[in-house]
Amino acid sequence: MALRLGLEVDFVPGDWRHGVDPAIVEKKLAEDRDRKIKSVNVVHNETSTGCLSRIAKIRKAIDRVGHPALFMVDTISSLGSTDYRHDEWGVDVTVGCSQKGLMLPPGLGFNAVSAKALAASKSARLPKSYWSWEEMLAANKTGFFPSSPATNLLYGLRESLRLLEEEGLDNVFDRHRRHGEATRRAVRTWGLEILCLNPEEYSPVLTAVVMPGDQGADAFRATVLEKFNMSLGNGLGKLKDRVFRIGHLGDFNDLMLIGTLCGIEMGFAAAGVTAKKGGVSAAMDYLATR
Ligand SMILES: Cc1ncc(COP(=O)(O)O)c(C=O)c1O
Repeated sequence: MALRLGLEVDFVPGDWRHGVDPAIVEKKLAEDRDRKIKSVNVVHNETSTGCLSRIAKIRKAIDRVGHPALFMVDTISSLGSTDYRHDEWGVDVTVGCSQKGLMLPPGLGFNAVSAKALAASKSARLPKSYWSWEEMLAANKTGFFPSSPATNLLYGLRESLRLLEEEGLDNVFDRHRRHGEATRRAVRTWGLEILCLNPEEYSPVLTAVVMPGDQGADAFRATVLEKFNMSLGNGLGKLKDRVFRIGHLGDFNDLMLIGTLCGIEMGFAAAGVTAKKGGVSAAMDYLATR
């Protein structure tokens, strides 16, 4: 998207099995002696791999170099399901949306903007109209929007915020962490590999699972869809057909998770995937004690 907008991008590829490495951010910024880099852009929860980047550590890496770049974070699949602190972690622009932890259809976007980012947007030369913060902030002060708001979704948002408050955010985050751990225990019991290699970076909202040997993930996903009407996430890009994803984001409870894991374990047998049995039991045992 940034390239299409005519920006110069220094894309740092990574191995898709870890979150963003704070040391690489530090090195890149230290090398930028002319301070040409305007912003460091990071995805908090990488929905395609199940790796969660350590935002506070990346902030510290930026600060160690004393680089003035803005720090921008995509929290689309973490907002409302994973602990995230825009102010405390010193983020300049946080982007969220309605369709994941807020449990709504797609259609709403949220920006949290620091004073530094707001000041930068005033002198920025990229054309903008619909996405102009100034116009939005001015109208929001009186409870209005500069253009037609997605009214129906705002009614839904009021209800989803009420649900999150009723459960308590700490409980919501804990529920996702607990389901993440139960899922990983099932995956290990099946004898399969979790794509994310760093336990500190395990996503609490989804787990990407590597298929054994050269067995295709998409044929397995098709079997599960056909037999049990359950849609598992696919692998994207270079992970296509290599991984499937188990998501438990948003409105989700223990029985829904166990049903999901049952569908996978039964799907292994139906599709002839080489996996051990007992994953569902391992997840149930964990949920019973935690
Ligand atoms: C981390 C992340 N960023 C961004 C998006 C939004 O992408 P798009 O609006 O193109 O579906 C998604 C998916 O909804 C996502 O999971």
